[in-house]
Amino acid sequence: MEKITWKPSFSVGHPILDQHHQTLVEITNRLVDAQGGNSRIAETFELLDDYVSTHFQLEESLLAATDMDNLEEHFASHRSFTNWLDAVKASYNAGGASSFYITETVVSYLKNWLVSHILVTDMQYKGKINEPD
Ligand code: FEO
Repeated sequence: MEKITWKPSFSVGHPILDQHHQTLVEITNRLVDAQGGNSRIAETFELLDDYVSTHFQLEESLLAATDMDNLEEHFASHRSFTNWLDAVKASYNAGGASSFYITETVVSYLKNWLVSHILVTDMQYKGKINEPD
């Protein structure tokens, strides 16, 4: 599994949201470093829970203040991420999947999320949301 290198082109033009996205990249890279070790998985789930509650909430509130179309679709993607996280946590906690399998599954999902959500869906709001005060 290869790590992700953050690039300036990944920026959505909002410093806090960029910081959150960079945190997601760091979570992914730490999991790659752990190479399937159990120790990182519980920590990863905690960090992802925090990401879901902090990032999605802020991003959705900033987007709701714009006149952008298709926000329901964007927000539905966030619910999809949350549902995926709940399912993978349940699978891990039930002991039905090895730590290596869970690690590969999570890394793969997060890499795909970066490419398909952050760099496509999120990128559509670049320049359209308010900067923090
Ligand atoms: Fe940055 Fe729509 O998640």
